[in-house]
Order: sequence, then C-alpha cells, then structure tokens
Amino acid sequence: MCGIFAYLNYLTPKSRLEVLDLLVTGLKRLEYRGYDSTGVAIDSPDSKNIVMVKRMGKVKVLEDAIQEHFTGGEYSEPVATHIGIAHTRWATHGEPCERNSHPQRSDEGNGFVVVHNGIITNYNDVKTFLRKRGYEFESETDTEVFAKLVHHLWKTHPTYSFRELVEQAILQLEGAFAVAVKSKHFPGECVAARRSSPLLVGIKTKTRLATDHIPILYGKVLPRSDSTSEFMPLEEKEVEYFFASDASAVIEHTNRVIYLEDDDVAAVRDGTLSIHRLKKSLDDPHAREITTLKMEIQQIMKGNYDYFMQKEIFEQPDSVVNTMRGRVRFDGNAIVLGGIKDYIPEIKRCRRLMLIGCGTSYHSAVATRQLLEELTELPVMVELASDFLDRNTPIFRDDVCFFISQSGETADTLMALRYCKQRGALIVGITNTVGSSICRESHCGVHINAGPEIGVASTKAYTSQFISLVMFALVMSEDRLSLQQRRLEILQALSNLADQIRKVLKLDSKVQELAKDLYQHKSLLIMGRGYNFATCLEGALKVKELTYMHSEGIMAGELKHGPLALVDDSMPVLMIVLRDPVYVKCMNALQQVTSRKGCPIIICEEGDEETKAFSSRSLEIPRTVDCLQGILTVIPMQLLSYHIAVLRGCDVDCPRNLAKSVTVE
Ligand code: F6R
Repeated sequence: MCGIFAYLNYLTPKSRLEVLDLLVTGLKRLEYRGYDSTGVAIDSPDSKNIVMVKRMGKVKVLEDAIQEHFTGGEYSEPVATHIGIAHTRWATHGEPCERNSHPQRSDEGNGFVVVHNGIITNYNDVKTFLRKRGYEFESETDTEVFAKLVHHLWKTHPTYSFRELVEQAILQLEGAFAVAVKSKHFPGECVAARRSSPLLVGIKTKTRLATDHIPILYGKVLPRSDSTSEFMPLEEKEVEYFFASDASAVIEHTNRVIYLEDDDVAAVRDGTLSIHRLKKSLDDPHAREITTLKMEIQQIMKGNYDYFMQKEIFEQPDSVVNTMRGRVRFDGNAIVLGGIKDYIPEIKRCRRLMLIGCGTSYHSAVATRQLLEELTELPVMVELASDFLDRNTPIFRDDVCFFISQSGETADTLMALRYCKQRGALIVGITNTVGSSICRESHCGVHINAGPEIGVASTKAYTSQFISLVMFALVMSEDRLSLQQRRLEILQALSNLADQIRKVLKLDSKVQELAKDLYQHKSLLIMGRGYNFATCLEGALKVKELTYMHSEGIMAGELKHGPLALVDDSMPVLMIVLRDPVYVKCMNALQQVTSRKGCPIIICEEGDEETKAFSSRSLEIPRTVDCLQGILTVIPMQLLSYHIAVLRGCDVDCPRNLAKSVTVE
C-alpha cells in the first residue's frame, strides 16, 4: 500500500546517477506494496533545485525514464552529500497517473516535495484552508495538502526549522501516514514521520555504531552535540541513512534499523539523526532502539523461479519447519511458544477466543477454528476485521483476541486490535513481520517465521499461520488427559508435514495440465466442508486475485440451498473430498453435482479409488490427520491459480488493483 524509500548520504560521495540507482532498487523491493505509478526526487546538478521524475506504471517504466532523462555528465559527478526520495504508489485518492504520483510538491519551484503512504482523512478541510490563502492544487491526491501546508507554515513561520515545520503540519492532519519530506530551502536535510503507517530508518556506517539507542527529544529541544545524557543523538561523520516502508528495501545496505513509532518524527541534518516527539506521556520510553535485522538478502530475491509467488509456494516444506523450529519437540511431545507462554494461564481463564484478520489471514482462522474449539473447549469466534469494526462488536476484559496478519500492518486489523485493547482484552499478535505495528502493539504473540513474503498473493504465510494456531491449540491442551491421544496424533502428523508438502508439490505438472483445461473459462466453483472449507475460500481468493476469473468457495452443505443452480455440464467445479468425518456428506454433494451433469475435478486422498471413480480428473494428496489436511489441500489450489494466471498472461506477483500491505481502511 504505497512504498516509501529515501536515501541520504553524508560524506560518502556518490554521483546522482548512483543515488538514482539506489532509489530505483529500493523501489523495486517495495513494489509489491503498490505499482500504479512511481516517482523520485533528487537535487539538481547545481544543488539549488529539486528535479523530479514520475511515471505511470511499474518501477521498470521509471527506471527507463530515468535513463533517458539523466544523461548529462554532471549527473555522474560525485557529490559529498545528497538526499533522494522515492515512491511507488497504490492509488487511494486520485486515479493512477503522473500528476497524482508522488513526490507531490508544494509549489512550482519544488520548494518542498513529499512522498506519503496512508490517507489524510481531513485533507478536504486543509485544502479549503489553503485555497483561501491562494494555493492552487494540481493533483487529486490527499498528499498534496501536506506539501502545501508545510510550505504555508514555512512562509508564515520563517524561524521554524525544517523539522518543526513538518511537526506543525502533522499536528493539523488526521488519518494515517508515513511521510518523507525533502526541501530545496533546507539542503542536506530530510524529515520523516509516521502515524499508523509503517516506517523505519536504516543506518549504515563505516565503523561499528557506538550506541544501540537514539534518544527521543521532546518538544522543541534540538539535538545538542555537547549532550552529556546517556544516549547521544547519532552523530556519525560518514553515514548513510535510509527511510523505508519496510526492511526488505534496506537489507542489502544495512541490517541496523530503528522502527519508528506513531507520532515519531525523524530528522537528519548534516549527518546527525535525531528522533522527536511532540509531547511526552508518562509511559514513553526515552530512547528508540537500533535493532539488528535477521533477514538475509537471498530471502528477498527470486532465485531460479519465474515469480516470487512460485518461489514462495515451493518454499513451504521449509517455511512450515521454520514455524515449528525451536517450538515443537517431537521427541518429548512438548510445545513451547516463547512469545505467549507467560500468558497461557490467563488465556486459559478467558471467556472466549476471538480470531480476527482479513483475506488469507482470516482464512487461516477459519481453517483452525474447529481444532481450537476441540482442544481449548472455549467458544471461538472468527471475524473479518472490517466487519468486526463496522458492527462495534462487544468486547469484554476477559476476551483473548488474536490478530492474524502477514504484514502486521493491515489497517483494518490494526484498528480492530486497538478497539479490543481499549476495552481491556488480551491482545495476541500472529504476524510474519518483526517490528510491525501489530507485533509491537500486541501484549504477546507468535511470530510465524515464514520468511519474507513478496508475492502479493499470500501462500507460505497462510500455511505458517495455520501451523502457529495449531501449535497454540496444542499448548492449550497440554494438561488435558483426555486429549493426549489426539495431541499425539497431531504432533506425529506435524513431524511428517514437510515431506508430505514436498509430495504435493510434485503434482505441479499435473496441476498445470488441469490449468490448461480451465484457463479460458469465466468461473470456477470450489466446494468442500469441515476442515477443508477454508481451503475452498482460500483457493477461490487465490483464483480471483491472480487470474481475474470469477471463483467462489462454497460450503458443500450449502450447495442445495442455492449454489447447485449454477451447476451444469459447462460450469467448472472443483471438489475436496477426503476420508475425514464429513466424507459421507461430501460424497452426497459430489453426487448432487454429477447428477446435474457437472464433471468436477476431485481432490482426494492417495489411493482412494472409490472417490476418484466419480471423475476423470483428480489430484491425489497424502493422508494426514483431519485438522492438518487443509495445509495439503491448499497447495494444489495455490499451484492451480498460479498456472491459470500464467496461462492468462496475468502479472502473477503484482495482480491488478491490489497491494500487499493494505495500510488504509
Ligand atoms: C490474499 C492476500 C490478502 C491478505 C490480506 C491481509 O492473497 O494476501 O487477502 O491476506 O490483505 O493481509 P495481512 O495478512 O498482511 O494482514
């Protein structure tokens, strides 16, 4: 949902072309966040002005435009200090076009230029205010008001520093934002801030940093170089800084980062980084930690695969093991979830468990609800974050609310988290992104450790979320004698899961053949029930988002209540029929379909000849325990949607109109 990237170098001379190259690479890493349009701003060759290049479309289009635009020799001369900002957009206000792409500017002279992620909700009021003062707007974006408001403040408050101007602007704005601002009036400086949208600062120095913390400065206090406080502002001589929406954009440069918190303002001037907050509240820490990223650069590269999504599907034998690593002891049948272990007694006393998420993350809750009910014996509610908020759902102090999110930044999920937290519930985060907002705002949680997921369509995060929730159910039932046999059966199945996933992945070429049968159709119905209903929902979501075909996940029990009317000899149907407790009921549905001349593709268990006999097309998957079968049935659906998308010529990693991290409501 828009990617922000800024690069600041101090006394590490680089030419403007090198800076542009760095900015473009940063944007490529963030492209999954939005890819409607892109833009960069750097200093002009005489350093007196700001030059911007913006293009409609993906980063590659911008890259080509930059090569055409910056041909003069002056762009290859090294400059000691330089600041460039860049953006890749997922349109919220204003159609995708060059005029609406970022950076947005304050005036024709490019006095202040801004890149922004989020939505400024009171932008109309601010626009009216600025129009009355003579400002004319050239875009339909909410972002432009930010640039113009800073400009207005600069004219009316000539003594304000750059950082103070940005702070004052932020005070007038409502909504969610992460911004990076550059100005020709403040050369060598850059200011960034966040409220509800993610932003981090990457720090690269020649020598090891002398500190692990940066002090937070409150109010108008400026960083003092003679400070004798415990934590000094970061005053490195030769230093490079990065502002980025997420860590994947900085990892090839540095693994030292500071995750900014809401209402933090980070200002860099002459190589000195300082972090400010406008007001101090009692529980505010007095410093921000410089953390070390554990991510590896290879994790964010495609390797030998054509698409990130394909790579991520094939990574699942490893990613599920990583989710369990250090947590499940198969020899002693013990499970320890370090991030929540201290809260387990409290969770056991709760009134109910609520699982809240969006899209694929929500489906992981649907997939595990039945097992959670069985092993915790607690009521388990599963909620879509947006609907949960729309309903003002009653929440009690003794509720335990799980927030499931790959990115950890999804606005609906984050808003729902804050809603529940305010009402006193215990907040458990299930995320894949260390340092994300959901991670930081939860009381406790499980990091799913699936590794970076770049393809916009979620795959390996789903199976890892699934396993994390299964592990939680196992922890909750540790001391229940009557459940030990069931727990053992599940633990045994978990230990075989990676091998079984490898086996399912071998179906790839068979799935590709099926995709050839399906890719020219308009629709695909996916039916199942019980533990596999979530696979139907998730499979249909994958088909819709990647192939732009219509697809519906149908609860097989509901077939006769309406959807059966869709079935005839031309409607593609896929049915999941496994030898689990709902097998007989699934077979009824299968017969209802075949007797309407439907000829479904069947996903069944290896060697189940009886079920296979109902169709000429089937995919056989290994048998595992009922509650984990959904992990094995979802993988053929991931592969199928992938192959249909390729055959239809769709952009697999960047489906139209979507973005990976949805940081607006
Ligand atoms: C679908 C998909 C989305 C996300 C949803 C929530 O493939 O990726 O439906 O699952 O936007 O995102 P997170 O999990 O980041 O909160």
